[in-house]
Amino acid sequence: MATRIVDQHKRIERNVTVLAILAFIAVAIGGIVEIAPLFWIDSTVEKVDGVRPHTPLELAGRDIYVREGCYSCHSQQVRPFRDEVERYGHYSLAAESMYDHPFQWGSKRTGPDLARVGGRYSDEWHVQHLKDPRAVVPESVMPPYAFLAERPLAVKGIGDHLTALRRAGVPYSDDAVRNAETDLLAQVDPDADHDDLLKRYPRAQVRDFDGNPDAVTEMDALVAYLQMLGTLVDFDAAKAQEQPR
Ligand code: HEC
Repeated sequence: MATRIVDQHKRIERNVTVLAILAFIAVAIGGIVEIAPLFWIDSTVEKVDGVRPHTPLELAGRDIYVREGCYSCHSQQVRPFRDEVERYGHYSLAAESMYDHPFQWGSKRTGPDLARVGGRYSDEWHVQHLKDPRAVVPESVMPPYAFLAERPLAVKGIGDHLTALRRAGVPYSDDAVRNAETDLLAQVDPDADHDDLLKRYPRAQVRDFDGNPDAVTEMDALVAYLQMLGTLVDFDAAKAQEQPR
């Protein structure tokens, strides 16, 4: 019996065409098992309460984050290990970056992970730190980004950006696209009407972020983005709801 199987196997091994066809089938099965779930990515990524698309202002800040290459020193993914969870907070969920195109998980941590940095510091701290990191953290090797406070934010065209993201699957409504510029300006203006903004983007933080109420700057957008990171999902409420096992 055993020798018969060995004989049959010899036949496969000695016929290069048969070997190639069978090897292809074996690899294809492995490939399908890995790749097929991605076609149902919508159901693969579990929905989580609180996760919403970025506000236009946060989105503009995120663009600056990408433009300046902050990801080359900062990750945005808390891994599910004890040391990370104790330092940064709850580990990252897939849903938290489901509207990020491209995601900012990163693989390099010259500086700390930023996935849960929102609310950890005041706006003033961020502005000071971005202008001159060593003024607040003397041993820091982070470069200064003082020019962000001087550069007016490009507000026009932010609606097109929402449209582009919508094509990639981010659920921005027609209203959100049409009012993108208004929503952006409302978020940095404490005196504006925020009802529509908050209806479209629950838990959006509204204020003048850069400490300069006379201008909407790139600093406003970047700080708004940083202050939102990790604040959308209420992990305490989620924990209270969890069934004891
Ligand atoms: C050359 C690497 C480098 C780059 C590029 C860089 N950072 Fe940093 N960052 C650091 C280091 C190192 C620290 C820790 C020391 C400190 O707080 O300055 C840090 C700290 C921070 C912190 C405080 C985090 C915390 O939890 O204490 C924030 C926020 C931050 N960086 C944002 C940014 C943003 C936004 C950009 C892009 C505009 C950026 N960084 C670019 C290296 C970098």
